[in-house]
Amino acid sequence: MAEDLSIAQGTKEEQYETLFPQIKGLLDGEPDLVANLANVTAALKEQFGWLWVGFYLVKEDQLVLGPFQGPVACTRIRKGRGVCGTSWAKAETLIVPDVEQFPGHIACSSLSKSEIVVPVIRNNEVVAVLDVDSIALDEFDATDKQYLEAIVELLNF
Ligand code: SME
Repeated sequence: MAEDLSIAQGTKEEQYETLFPQIKGLLDGEPDLVANLANVTAALKEQFGWLWVGFYLVKEDQLVLGPFQGPVACTRIRKGRGVCGTSWAKAETLIVPDVEQFPGHIACSSLSKSEIVVPVIRNNEVVAVLDVDSIALDEFDATDKQYLEAIVELLNF
């Protein structure tokens, strides 16, 4: 696998279309989960420049911070709490156009304005969530949902 990511210009869809096969290439043949989670966060951050991209892993009754790119973040989130804990409880992707309007949003950074959280589901159980935060309001849409859900499917949980 080449070490450098090829950064795409263009629409969000075009950017994901260029990024997706590269993420596949990064993960291909690598069995170590932490290495793969780390590279996925780095690839997304590098392509899109979002404020924060990271994984929280389900450990017993909490989400615990995993590999991420961005400012330091809260380490533990309970089920049903914040956007991440709600995505876990509902086992569905949540798009939050304005985090201040989300009841119980956990503000790890005051710079974060909008957010998407994608659950990683294996054997009908949520095993982790991918959390992405942006400094822009209303950053995330159905295109992000589609591609980020496809990207977490590639992971070897
Ligand atoms: N905002 C998230 C917490 C995680 S940080 O944004 C990295 C939430 O409400 O679950």
